Amino acid sequence: MSYGYFDDQNREYIITKPNTPLPWINYLGCEAYFGIISNTAGGYSFYRDARLRRLTRYRYNNAPFDFGGRYIYLRDNVTGKYWSPSWQPTQDEVKDYSCRHGMGYSIIGSTLNQIKAETLYFVPLGETLEIWQLKVTNLSKKPRKLSAFSSIEFCLWDAQDDATNFQRNFSTGQVEVKDGVIYHKTEYRERRDHFAYFACSEKVAGYDTQRDTFLGAYRSWDKPLAVEQGHSFNSVAHGWAPIGSHHVKLNLKPGETRIVTFVLGYHENSKDEKFDPPQSQIINKKTVRPIIAKYLNSKNVNTAFDTLKKYWERVLGIYQAKTPDKHTNRMVNIWNAYQCMATFNMSRSASFYESGIGRGLGFRDSNQDLLGFVHMVPERARERVLDLASTQLETGGAYHQYQPLTKRGNNDIGSDFNDDPLWLIIGVGTYIKETGDWSILDAPVPYDNKPGSEMPLYEHLERSLKYTLDRLGPHGLPLIGRADWNDCLNLNCFSDTPGQSFQTTTNKDGKVAESIFIAGMFVLAARELADIAERRGLHADASNYRNAAERMDGTVHKHGWDGEWFLRAYDDFGKKVGSKECKEGKIFIEPQGFCVLAGIGLNDGLAQKSLDSVNKILATKHGIMLQQPSYSEYYLNLGEISSYPPGYKENAGIFCHNNPWVIIAETRVGNGNRAFDYYSRINPSAREKNIDKHRCEPYVYAQMIAGKDAPTHGEAKNSWLTGTAAWNYYAITQFILGIRPTYSGLMIAPVIPTQWKGFFVTRIFQGVLYNISVKREGKGNNVRLTVDGVAMEGNVIPKPQIGTLKVTVEAILF
Ligand code: GLC
Ligand code: GLC
Repeated sequence: MSYGYFDDQNREYIITKPNTPLPWINYLGCEAYFGIISNTAGGYSFYRDARLRRLTRYRYNNAPFDFGGRYIYLRDNVTGKYWSPSWQPTQDEVKDYSCRHGMGYSIIGSTLNQIKAETLYFVPLGETLEIWQLKVTNLSKKPRKLSAFSSIEFCLWDAQDDATNFQRNFSTGQVEVKDGVIYHKTEYRERRDHFAYFACSEKVAGYDTQRDTFLGAYRSWDKPLAVEQGHSFNSVAHGWAPIGSHHVKLNLKPGETRIVTFVLGYHENSKDEKFDPPQSQIINKKTVRPIIAKYLNSKNVNTAFDTLKKYWERVLGIYQAKTPDKHTNRMVNIWNAYQCMATFNMSRSASFYESGIGRGLGFRDSNQDLLGFVHMVPERARERVLDLASTQLETGGAYHQYQPLTKRGNNDIGSDFNDDPLWLIIGVGTYIKETGDWSILDAPVPYDNKPGSEMPLYEHLERSLKYTLDRLGPHGLPLIGRADWNDCLNLNCFSDTPGQSFQTTTNKDGKVAESIFIAGMFVLAARELADIAERRGLHADASNYRNAAERMDGTVHKHGWDGEWFLRAYDDFGKKVGSKECKEGKIFIEPQGFCVLAGIGLNDGLAQKSLDSVNKILATKHGIMLQQPSYSEYYLNLGEISSYPPGYKENAGIFCHNNPWVIIAETRVGNGNRAFDYYSRINPSAREKNIDKHRCEPYVYAQMIAGKDAPTHGEAKNSWLTGTAAWNYYAITQFILGIRPTYSGLMIAPVIPTQWKGFFVTRIFQGVLYNISVKREGKGNNVRLTVDGVAMEGNVIPKPQIGTLKVTVEAILF
């Protein structure tokens, strides 16, 4: 079955059937005001923090799955027939339904009863509001008398509280309605200085702000009483459930099109100007009126929409590739980059699988996300790096998460995920390679946000490495702590109490269980810091770090090799995890990917052996599984990993996040065919042909695809907010296509399939446009470069003279 298609020219995915296997969503906003929107206009909006400043209400895990959103109803006032052009919530048999998800906007519409209607939803850059621009066209030969009703349900700000604290919430809701604008002002009377508003460009025939009045008792959003009877009740919410709904009458001549604009926004007033008149309880609207007026004017809406399109054109224009594979092209040029920006903005907070009230920003996650977005928003990447480093503890350890509004470490989850600190080195290295901004290393950064504890960022990186070295176990391998990258491999947890958190429970002293994954990561991070130190002229540091990396590499060879692959860990009894000696979980993906990616075993055949084992045991046509055989029962000594049924999540699911580690590892051993084959197996666009199995959006990666032990092998879950986005982007752009920022310039090191004749890339790097064409002359991965017509030694293009805007690069592969 096909549910839609890619329109690469317009950078859109066009959904042509409303009943997609799962809601297929998009994001609105890229700065402070955000929304998620499904293909049937479901979803919600928030300001900065999806938990604490939620503007509109959404009920997760509903039936149908996606219900509640930015719904518009149309009604034929002659026949009384009403429907939703976005299909939901009325689910009429609309014709020509389409949802065009684009870069920061969605356009959803259809035709029914010879009335065509479509709504453009987007957030203008620089604003804290969203626009719904509704276009209604009369396709019939007679004049039509119509009504349009808008609708949203307000959230009482704190989404967690909103969904639980009814004894209070049913009494606190407050609104104002003035000049057709609905203001939601719950708690404005007390400590909140912000309110939401919902405005309409047309003269309104009526409005509603109390949900049960608008819907009618015991009715749902599919048949609101106000819509059914054709006029609003002008209800004013006092407590219960404040909503916003406008009623607009539209009389359309044959062929006529009318535009109605709705603006939903968030606004803050200063404390001393909250009310107007000052001693009253009435919102001071002077500060918001000009903003509302501006966007109720279609011309300004159109300009703002153009500006948004240009913004994305510029951001995506930084890396554009033309390869022989259309799936690669559209992921690299459009969707994968776009998804990386979503993970930058949302981290793991708000999607259709992340409820916006769960976790803060992950220390590990956010550092990895940098790999995918640093080139698109370098200034904001700098801020992110410094925010992360400011939560680091004096021990060099890290809070596992921090809260975006306060930027403080999250005490509930705490620290002791022993891989966390090392990601900071990877993050900072990524940032400097892209920007050349070495000054960041001197930026004073506090520990645990404590004033007075500031130290140069470089020192934070040193402490990160030291953190591992201070915590070595019986084999000289890094102790795992609560967990490493695999949050669910909890070797010190030993939890037998139902419901206890695997992430925060520790019943062992943690002095035995070791991680070979962290060992691999340490080698990578230590070499990275050595490179950084070298370039700062700190040669003694550099050689210390290199020696530490060598030693760890040696330890991995000695205690981390199982014969055909790298071991995963030693448990609290000192027994092997991820070994042929184990009954289940004999081989894991993480150490194979990460050790090879770090360069371990490249010279003595271990790398190749390890990757061949991955190919033989872990690779399926839907991607590479996390481990095999899956755990058939719960193991006290392994923790959450064995809590999942076989084939799902960390228990032998295809955890897409770490597939690119193997892809990069394959490029390190020079196997472009395998690297690209693995890349294609999980590329969502390439998986579109199997969409009834895959089910998630074909334009973005999902965290997981069910592994071969699951009855639903091949089914994806948890789309959008996953480290998969950054890592796949990094793997394809920097390792397969091989256009890689380094400390000394742009490296050209493609490892592409042998049958590819070549490809083109345009890359803006540190302000210079590189036009790169790669041609294959032989079967190998050796590179001969000509830069601006001059043959060059090596494969790193030195930084051009200041003032150079464009560099032409020809690369011959042989
Ligand atoms: C989730 C977490 C990430 C972790 C991974 C594996 O994606 O966000 O931090 O590394 O699961 O457990
Ligand atoms: C759960 C998830 C895992 C995630 C972890 C941390 O254990 O299965 O993927 O990393 O939570 O939030």
